[in-house]
Amino acid sequence: MKLPKNYKVKQNELNSKVILVTGANKGFGLAISMDLAKAGATVIMLGRDLSSLEYAYDAVVDAGYKEPILYPLDLEGASPENYQELQDNIIEKFNRLDGLIHNAAILGTQMPIDQYDIKLWYSTLQINLSAPFMLTQFLIPALKKSDDARILFLSSSVGRKARAYWGAYSVSKFGLEGLAMTLSEELEKTKIKVNTINPGKMRTEMRRTAYPAEDASTLPKPEEKSSVIVYLLSKEAERINGEQLSID
Ligand SMILES: NC(=O)c1ccc[n+]([C@@H]2O[C@H](COP(=O)([O-])OP(=O)(O)OC[C@H]3O[C@@H](n4cnc5c(N)ncnc54)[C@H](OP(=O)(O)O)[C@@H]3O)[C@@H](O)[C@H]2O)c1
Repeated sequence: MKLPKNYKVKQNELNSKVILVTGANKGFGLAISMDLAKAGATVIMLGRDLSSLEYAYDAVVDAGYKEPILYPLDLEGASPENYQELQDNIIEKFNRLDGLIHNAAILGTQMPIDQYDIKLWYSTLQINLSAPFMLTQFLIPALKKSDDARILFLSSSVGRKARAYWGAYSVSKFGLEGLAMTLSEELEKTKIKVNTINPGKMRTEMRRTAYPAEDASTLPKPEEKSSVIVYLLSKEAERINGEQLSID
């Protein structure tokens, strides 16, 4: 499936849509939030740290885009009660959710499996895979209230083809691919579309950590890729379902 290159965000194309983005305070999550707000969506920006979320909020508002809502939640420690509270808040305020973008992730460590730090394995699987599972489970009732909802999981090339030393990160992305495909079949008869997307290389903190010797100035900035996410939330992409998408 080919995605449009250099998709141009149209003002108001996502007007009245309510979309939750995880890891919205920086990197690709911030770029996605900016573009969704530019398109007129109300973005619920979820992140673990309120002060960096506030910084991201200022970036969206200073650009003149739709005012977002901040939702501080640490996906490593979040409990079912926290997810229930989020569901209650969304239902009470909007009575529906139109989009859920699972963007937050950690890299873990790059190590062979036989030396992989066990605690970090659990943390990586918790943040990258179990939290998206729980968040999705608790938000499906709100997504079902939308007349056209989308769930998007941020994946990676190592979530589709294994590469040595990518450990828990790679396994978590393979898991997300499986979760998304299972969900897209289970939700086939609903108005919720489910896809995964590999954004490819971007100039973010995660990429810098994974490739410290790389010349970052050669990499595309996250804001050069985020408009594709607006496309995937738009009416134009309403038929895309159960796909393993790639930006590059
Ligand atoms: N950059 C690339 O080249 C690349 C390539 C392929 C796929 N991806 C995928 O694209 C997505 C975005 O990556 P990125 O490059 O923008 O990464 P990034 O700059 O490291 O940002 C990761 C985001 O996840 C958040 N996060 C981490 N742990 C969290 C937790 N416990 N609770 C809540 N939020 C948490 C971070 O918040 P804090 O600021 O608080 O840490 C941050 O907002 C990821 O799913 C990644 O796997 C990236």
